Amino acid sequence: MAIGRSKVVVVGTGAVGAAVAFDIVMNHVCDDLVLIDINKEKSWAEATDLQHSLGYNGNKMKVKDGEYDDCKDADLVVIAAALPYITGQTRLDMMEKAAGIMESIVPPIMKSGFSGIIVVITNPVDVMSYYVHKLSGLPANKVIGTGTALDSARLKYHLADVMNVDPQSVHALCMGEHGDSQVIPWSQITVGGKKFLDIINDNKVRLGEFNIDSVSEDIKMIAYRIVNAKGATTFGIAATTVQIIKAVLRDENKVIPVSAMLNGEYGEKDIYAGVPAVLNNQGIKELVEYHLSENEMAELKKSIAIIRDYSKKLNL
Ligand SMILES: NC(=O)c1ccc[n+]([C@@H]2O[C@H](COP(=O)([O-])OP(=O)(O)OC[C@H]3O[C@@H](n4cnc5c(N)ncnc54)[C@H](O)[C@@H]3O)[C@@H](O)[C@H]2O)c1
Repeated sequence: MAIGRSKVVVVGTGAVGAAVAFDIVMNHVCDDLVLIDINKEKSWAEATDLQHSLGYNGNKMKVKDGEYDDCKDADLVVIAAALPYITGQTRLDMMEKAAGIMESIVPPIMKSGFSGIIVVITNPVDVMSYYVHKLSGLPANKVIGTGTALDSARLKYHLADVMNVDPQSVHALCMGEHGDSQVIPWSQITVGGKKFLDIINDNKVRLGEFNIDSVSEDIKMIAYRIVNAKGATTFGIAATTVQIIKAVLRDENKVIPVSAMLNGEYGEKDIYAGVPAVLNNQGIKELVEYHLSENEMAELKKSIAIIRDYSKKLNL
C-alpha cells in the first residue's frame, strides 16, 4: 500500500470505466487516478477530459492515462474492460470473451509488482472475480467483485420510493449471482429497523399493491431495459464501485453486498457469490452470514449452483 498519496487505476475506460473515473474525481476518492484501455486514444481522451474537470472542481487530484507499470504502487485497481455488448446476450453468455480479456489484463498488472486490492466489475462478475483471484495469485480477500451491490442499490432505491423514506433508512440487499438467478432475502430487509415483511402486513391498505415477486423480477430486468435504451448502465455502477473503493481506501469496515469467495458461509465454499461483506483496507475483512428462511436458502443455493456451473467451465 502506498503511504501518503492514494492511487487507483481503472482498466477499461468504456462507458462504465469512464463513469467510475468521473465519480472518483467528483468525490476526490484518491490522489492519483490512472486510466488504461486497449484503445489508448479512448483512455487518453477520458483522462484528458477528466483533467479539464479539475480546472473548476477545486480538488488537487492527478489524473492521467497510463500503462500497466502504473499499477506497481497502486492501492486499488478497478477492472471494467469488456467487449461490446450484443443485444440478447445474458451476462453468462459473455463469459468466454471476458475470460480472455482477464488473461490479457491480470498478468501485466501483477508483473508490475502490484500488491493492492482489485475490484472487478466485468460481467459475468462472480465468475470473473474468481478468475481474477486465480490469475492474480492474490488472496481472495483482496479480489472483490461488485456482485449484487448494484442490484442492492436498485432495491434500496425502489423500496425507499415505495415507502417515501430516505434510501439510507432501508436495509435491503440482493444475494447470489449478479444476474438472472439473484435472490432477494425478504426476511432480512428492514426499513427504519422494522422488518419489511411486517410492514407489508401492518399496512395492507397503503401497500396492498406491493408484490414481492414482481419487484424481484423488476430489479433483475431493469439493467436490460437501461442497456437497451442507452447502451450501458453507468451511473448506478459508478456510485456503487466508488462506495466499495472508499470502504477500502478509508478503512471504513463498511458492510456492502459484494461478490466474495465463500469459505463455508451459507454451506458453500470455493465459489465467488454475492453476500454481505465487511470491507476495509484489507479488502474483504469478513462475510456476514444471515439466518435466511428455508426458501431463501434454497434459492441462494440454486443461484450459487448456476455460478458454480459456469465457473467450472473455466476450471475454477
Ligand atoms: N457488475 C456490474 O454490476 C456491472 C454493471 C454494469 C456493467 N458491467 C459490466 O462492465 C463491463 C464494461 O461495460 P461497458 O458498458 O463499459 O463496456 P464498453 O464496451 O463501453 O467498454 C469496455 C472497454 O473495455 C476496453 N477493453 C476491451 N478489451 C480490453 C483489454 N483487453 N484491455 C483493456 N481494455 C479493454 C474497451 O476498449 C472499452 O473501452 C461489461 O462487462 C459490463 O457487463 C457490470
